[in-house]
Amino acid sequence: MEELKIKRVIGLMSGTSCDSIDAGLCEVHPDLSVKLISGINYKYPEHIRAKIFQLFRGEATIKDVCQMNFAIGHCFAKAANILISEFGKPDFIASHGQTIYHYPFDDCIDNINLKSTLQIGDGSVISQETGCQTYSNFREADIAVGGEGAPLVCFADEKWFKQKGKNVLVQNIGGISNVTVISNNSPTFGFDTGLGNIMIDYCMNKFFGKPYDKDGEVAKSGIICDSWLDILCQDEYYFKKPPKSTGREYFSPKYIENALKFAPKEKEDIIATVTALTAKTIVSSYERFVFPDFDVNEVVVGGGGAYNPVLMKFIRTYLPKHIDLKTHEDYNISNNFKEVMAFALLGYCSYYGIPSNLPSCTGASKRVVLGRLSNC
Ligand SMILES: Nc1ncnc2c1ncn2[C@@H]1O[C@H](COP(=O)(O)OP(=O)(O)O)[C@@H](O)[C@H]1O
Ligand SMILES: [Mg+2]
Repeated sequence: MEELKIKRVIGLMSGTSCDSIDAGLCEVHPDLSVKLISGINYKYPEHIRAKIFQLFRGEATIKDVCQMNFAIGHCFAKAANILISEFGKPDFIASHGQTIYHYPFDDCIDNINLKSTLQIGDGSVISQETGCQTYSNFREADIAVGGEGAPLVCFADEKWFKQKGKNVLVQNIGGISNVTVISNNSPTFGFDTGLGNIMIDYCMNKFFGKPYDKDGEVAKSGIICDSWLDILCQDEYYFKKPPKSTGREYFSPKYIENALKFAPKEKEDIIATVTALTAKTIVSSYERFVFPDFDVNEVVVGGGGAYNPVLMKFIRTYLPKHIDLKTHEDYNISNNFKEVMAFALLGYCSYYGIPSNLPSCTGASKRVVLGRLSNC
């Protein structure tokens, strides 16, 4: 194998929250550590974002999907070009794209498997508009060998958070939440715990006309409705054994509207309760699938949810007292750009032909090199 060198990589990511395209210029080192040099949160133009939500709602035609694949490619290229105009060209770009559908199930037609995922934002558009080689479509290769194509950040978590003598849970709270379980005694594994911010954001939009509950201000003024919380926690996803991954197809507007039929009257109480739901289902997934096998020392939270102090307070309340609760920032990793840094690392692995899926996290039959290259 070619000798590994330091590479400058722009990571591009937009998650299920669809709040922004996160772009980060990173320096990836041969020991697979990643340093963020500069990061920006580039907002989607308003009508493009509205179109993406139309795709999420299943209201779009194949023509919309076709057009949006290129439109999102243009938006991702714009985000990368802002960094390029300030810092010059990187060695290459690693783009996650925008997930518009994730179907991690082994259903078949004519014995042909339908397990699949779709991230759009065409790599050739990004490479041509930036003048940089671009790696994209990281999830497909894992699905091609029987995995769910998610979660992929576990690979980075293992490299960055593994510590001697400690069992660490790395918890990302984006639109969806996922955990990586890092221990010295067994292979790293991980899974989606379920809802992250999707339901909080949806209810904030519906009841307050705002995109999210900034600093948990609304949740703070409400009271948790325990009976509704108990009902919401009974959803079958939370009981399903890992490996498992999920998305907006499951926790859809229809799902949330159904749940809201049993909601309390006060809209502040609704926000308090759905915030508690995210915290409670995260901790109960540890109780079901992690604590029986691992004596956990520490939980390290990242993603936008780490900026919601009420969500963090609820996690603290539900978590056993002896377990430390930290955020990525305690490790000098930005809560905001952690996933961008992870995809910069996955791009680095694609460049050098290093397999970067973890079968213990995705359920794949083997380790494979991820990503597809668009030259310029
Ligand atoms: N200051 C804040 N207070 C409360 N919630 C926040 C704050 N900043 C970000 N968030 C939440 O985090 C979400 C974005 O998280 P992110 O990690 O980018 O998710 P994704 O990976 O799904 O895009 C926002 O939609 C919002 O719900
Ligand atoms: Mg985001």
